[in-house]
Amino acid sequence: MTKVLVTGAAGFIGSHTVDKLLADGHEVVGVDNFRSGNRSNLAGADSNEQFTLVEADVSADGVLDGLVSDTLPSAIIHLAALVSVQDSIDNPELNYQLNVLATHRVAEAARAHDVKRVVFASSAAIYGNATDMPIVEEAAKLPISPYGGAKLASEAILLSHGAAFGIMIRCQRYFNVFGPRQDPASPYSGVISIFDKRYRDGKGVTIFGDGQQTRDFISVHDVARANVLAATSDGIKSGWANVCTGRATSLLEVAAIFAEHYPEAPAPILGEPRKGDIIHSRGQADLIAKELGFSAEVTVKDGLSELIRLG
Ligand code: UD1
Repeated sequence: MTKVLVTGAAGFIGSHTVDKLLADGHEVVGVDNFRSGNRSNLAGADSNEQFTLVEADVSADGVLDGLVSDTLPSAIIHLAALVSVQDSIDNPELNYQLNVLATHRVAEAARAHDVKRVVFASSAAIYGNATDMPIVEEAAKLPISPYGGAKLASEAILLSHGAAFGIMIRCQRYFNVFGPRQDPASPYSGVISIFDKRYRDGKGVTIFGDGQQTRDFISVHDVARANVLAATSDGIKSGWANVCTGRATSLLEVAAIFAEHYPEAPAPILGEPRKGDIIHSRGQADLIAKELGFSAEVTVKDGLSELIRLG
């Protein structure tokens, strides 16, 4: 059993990561300020006596230092973030506070209290408009949003601290994550969460463009498992890896799976392509297989069926 501190514990990926840690018998200290996290995401975890939740802002001075010195975890999984790319464009300063300063605080708290391992929520956004598919980890890092820039800077902060002070760092570059508890509230929310809500409400969906664009959609259950492996496996080294399936699914395919479950729903409308949209995104999944022994198990079809069933 390991004691793990999870920042952003009440978020979409955070709460699933907490659930997986607890299911595997670990002790978990969660921290969240509920800016975008939701208390109800932790309904399952709350009934587990191995789980403690602290309400706090990890970017605030002294918060993480105090929490880490009080709890002395073996590992920190740092998922707290400003999660919306659009919010980072509207408010770059807040983005750098929540995505870079907070990461610096994690690195410093780990150094000060001898935490030997940090797992970080990085993103395929660091690759910007990569055009060579699949996207390999060596691809150029040319982010095109403050969000992507902050994730790239955070990787550098953590890896340099790790090298200087002997902390094992794993940067997890998530592709398009989907599944239960993803918030569909904004037009820039993940497309699957938007489609799920609209079909559930008996409305049709709009596909921006011809629907041939593809993404590497990965289930949040697989992502949570990858996080737990990175936080608890023996014999792994500092580094980074794509967290993806290696498979591309088009929006037409996604809409067709929804339509099977909602035969009465109106057919999707094809709208104007979204400005700045990339056509294809697919990661290469070999490095994480080699380094963590991880490969995604949930297909898009099965993941969507679960989402539709559970909401
Ligand atoms: C991701 C970010 C987005 C950012 C972009 C930069 C997420 C959830 N989104 O977008 O904020 O600007 O990287 O590269 O992380 N779509 C529809 N109908 C809808 C909603 C979306 O057709 O109602 C389409 C989009 O135009 C896109 C695809 O679905 O082609 C996927 O969209 P999204 O889930 O936002 O992911 P990314 O495009 O990867």
